Amino acid sequence: MNAAIKPKLVLTGFMATGKSAVGRALAARLNRRFIDSDQEIVARAGKSIARIFAEDGEAAFRALEQEIIAELAASPEAAVIATGGGALVDDANYAALSRVGTLVCLVARPEVIARRVAASNVARPKLMQGEMALEERIAQLMEERKTAYARAEITVDTSDLPVGRVADRVLRRLQGKE
Ligand code: S3P
Repeated sequence: MNAAIKPKLVLTGFMATGKSAVGRALAARLNRRFIDSDQEIVARAGKSIARIFAEDGEAAFRALEQEIIAELAASPEAAVIATGGGALVDDANYAALSRVGTLVCLVARPEVIARRVAASNVARPKLMQGEMALEERIAQLMEERKTAYARAEITVDTSDLPVGRVADRVLRRLQGKE
């Protein structure tokens, strides 16, 4: 659609910022396949992310995440990829993804994320570590990951926007119109 768009469009950002929903909307608009790296991990492991964390530990999850991301980056197919919220923190993942794709970071205010997480039925083990209140834990983890997310080329705040408007904004930013 646009020469400036690399073969992969990669959605990154904190949990519950809308990466999968916006990724699907972008894939439809760009007529590309949508890939959710977390879903690929679940398929390969044959169990949910919550179970991978509980039974094998976070390190095993991160190793699998790195393996899947390297494979996705190596495939020549044009696609929109939504990554898990911790993926970009890893330098190897960042290197692999930034080589083949444009990185788009979705952000949202901690209270908005807390509301979305509370309303969702997706288990998020990283938010259940420690004794902190949900919003406080979100703010803490966000702070830890700030520099990793800042490596994305485009950042869009999804706190007050519906999915379709976020997708439109990402496309306008990609085309240099905003
Ligand atoms: C994680 C985010 C999750 C999932 C896993 C770890 C993280 O993905 O990959 O629970 O460390 O932020 P979502 O961002 O899609 O919730």
